[in-house]
Amino acid sequence: HAMPDLIRALPKAELHLHIEGSLEPELMFRLAKKNNVAIPYDSIEDVRRAYNFSNLQSFLDIYYAGANVLQTQDDFYDLTWAYIEKCLENNIVHTEIFFDPQTHTERGVPFSAVIGGIKAALADAHSQHGITSCIIMCFLRHLSEADAFATLEEALPYKDDIIGVGLDSSEVGNPPSKFAAVFKAAAEHGFKLVAHAGEEADFSYINEALDLLNIHRIDHGVQSIHSDTLMLRLKDTQMPLTVCPNSNIELRVFDHYDQHNIKDLLDYGLNVSVHSDDPAYFKGYLNQNFTNLCDHLPLSADDVVTLVKNGFRSAFIDDAQKAAYL
Ligand code: ADE
Ligand code: ZN
Repeated sequence: HAMPDLIRALPKAELHLHIEGSLEPELMFRLAKKNNVAIPYDSIEDVRRAYNFSNLQSFLDIYYAGANVLQTQDDFYDLTWAYIEKCLENNIVHTEIFFDPQTHTERGVPFSAVIGGIKAALADAHSQHGITSCIIMCFLRHLSEADAFATLEEALPYKDDIIGVGLDSSEVGNPPSKFAAVFKAAAEHGFKLVAHAGEEADFSYINEALDLLNIHRIDHGVQSIHSDTLMLRLKDTQMPLTVCPNSNIELRVFDHYDQHNIKDLLDYGLNVSVHSDDPAYFKGYLNQNFTNLCDHLPLSADDVVTLVKNGFRSAFIDDAQKAAYL
């Protein structure tokens, strides 16, 4: 099995990973018990049975319920450290993790506990294992822009710990235009900008994210294939697309891996890379995303290397660090 060996052997960059989406059922149960939080499952098997999604929203409902067990700074440390152990298994040497502050601050968990726990685990990952990382704060698009502005204000004391802002949650009906002003404000504060666009919603959301939010990367973006104009634009600008194959299958964006369009996007010349989104919910971490693609699409070894290198090209790291992996 040359391909799995190659995938395992390549150092990789993770650019699209929701830390709350790395909460494994075992840790969910342990924290539920410790914090006295009710969860609607009797057993680990019961949880895994519930992870059968029909679309993005059916996943989000379960994902936000799971996040309720996260209460203290230590919980966020343990969550992040468990993910770092997965980075070691998957040869991820650089990771840019999303977190959703509003999911926690809405429940009364202080912003400082969330960022403090994540940051401490990432610092240990660097000192103990040399893993580099940064943190991206996402606004929940099902909430208002005023809520996003309040969250941006709350984040300012931690500005040095947060490299950028993103946009996630329920996409259809919550277009990028709803957040144009808060993204402009975030840019003025020096944050880098990314946004989920064209995951479930059509390609017009990708155009809007480019035109109105001025993003540096598109998260998902797989619906771009339905617009020739947009495809040309993405190719010309080499705009990064952080594609998450397992997620797209589990959330029924594509029926099966052999229907996934990542090979078409790559062959067209787009800057696409592979990431894991919410690996505890979508049946596997980064290497598994690659092997699932390789099992069902005619990806060559060169294609795999290009996808991995694109991850480093698109990362928020300096040129010296990029050069080490390109
Ligand atoms: N939050 C966590 N995962 C997400 C996804 N795939 N799309 C939108 N919001 C998310
Ligand atoms: Zn995502």
